[in-house]
Order: sequence, then C-alpha cells, then structure tokens
Amino acid sequence: MNQDTPEYRKRIKTNVEAAEGYTRRKADKHAAEMALIERGFALCPDVKTALDAPCGVGRATVWLARQGYQATGIDLGEAAVEYTRKAFAEAGLDGEAHQMDVENTDFADRAFDAVLCFRLLHHFPDPEPRRRLIRELCRVSDRYVLISYISPWSVTSIRRRIQRLFGKRLKQFHTPLSEVRAYFAEQGFSLVDDLPQSRFLHSLHLAVFRRD
Ligand SMILES: C[S@@+](CC[C@H](N)C(=O)[O-])C[C@H]1O[C@@H](n2cnc3c(N)ncnc32)[C@H](O)[C@@H]1O
Repeated sequence: MNQDTPEYRKRIKTNVEAAEGYTRRKADKHAAEMALIERGFALCPDVKTALDAPCGVGRATVWLARQGYQATGIDLGEAAVEYTRKAFAEAGLDGEAHQMDVENTDFADRAFDAVLCFRLLHHFPDPEPRRRLIRELCRVSDRYVLISYISPWSVTSIRRRIQRLFGKRLKQFHTPLSEVRAYFAEQGFSLVDDLPQSRFLHSLHLAVFRRD
C-alpha cells in the first residue's frame, strides 16, 4: 500500500492477524455460511472449475475442492494464500492458491465455469469500486458468478443504520440488490436467485448470476 492506495482499500485488512481471525470463526457461523454457498452452487449445474475470490484462509476453497470442483483461491494477503495452501494439504485435496488482486486478476477471459466472491463486497463503501469488482468477476467467469452482499432490509442492517446515527463508524456497508443487479446487467449477466442466509435477522445474502 502507498499514498495512492484508495481509502476503502486501506480499510480492508489483508494482514496475518486478519487471516488468523478467520481460522477462529465460530463453528456455527462457518457452517451456516458454507450451507449458504452450497445452496448457491446447487443452482449452478455442470460446473467443473471454480474460483474463490477472495479465498481468505480457504474455507470455501477447500469446501469447493471437497465437492469435486477444480478449485482455485486468490487473495491479496500472503498469509491467507499460505493458509489456503496448507488447508488443501491438510485435507489431502488438490487445489491452487495465488496471491492476486481480485479487482485486477491475471486470469484469461472466461477462465472459470463459476466464480465465488464471498464476504468482500460489503467492505466497499462506494459504488464505483463495487462496479469494478463485479466487472472483473464477470470477465473471468464463463457462466456463473455467486456474490455475497449485505442487504439494507434486515434487522441487523436497520440496527447498524441506527448505530451510525449515534456516531458509530461502520465497517460493513449494505448494497441494495437493484444496484448489484445493474452492474451484472452491464456485463451481460442475469440474476438466477437471491438467497438470504436466513430471512429478516441475517443481512448476508448470496446472489447467483448467470451469463445471458
Ligand atoms: C472477510 S475475508 C473473506 C474471505 C473468504 N471469502 C471467506 O469467506 O472466508 C476478506 C478477504 O479479502 C481479502 N482481500 C481484500 N481485498 C482484496 C483484493 N483487492 N484482492 C484480493 N483479496 C482481497 C483479504 O485479504 C481477506 O482475506
């Protein structure tokens, strides 16, 4: 990072401590999130190759490999990539992990059948970076993109908005599905389904898009 790094990128943690924090994620939260991803991939038939971007410590990347997908993970954090490689080895599974910027990857156009982007978009406070991220995810996907976002319409999001009124600095930003859909439409993708982790209480959704 240098002085030209945009403010929103400085706020996204890519250090060792952040990666390690994710290895300690509560088992029930982890299980609920993997169940959401499983529901998403159930809507994506005939997928062989899958990119997990960003992979963090490889939670979903290993899950993808376990389902039989040829799985690749990318993350900006060096420690995260190392954790993912170790997780593949410990699980006795094949898979790749590379240090790469999700907003500007080295992959060829349409390199993967499906691309998963889990728990990143809500770190982007402004529309233009959200749009750029979605453009890159679509560029490298041949057919499906599964992206999580935080809906403004949930008990948690409404509580956060009230907290902000009282001066609390937000670390997570909600995005209406209409905005997410519009960016995908620009890239020639349509919504297959929008899956809430659970209705009302949870603000995390997984939206599944398919190339038209
Ligand atoms: C909240 S974690 C989620 C990771 C993973 N998807 C999961 O659910 O376990 C966010 C991850 O995004 C990574 N990250 C942030 N900005 C990135 C970028 N521009 N390119 C690649 N990785 C990035 C961070 O290093 C961190 O590991």
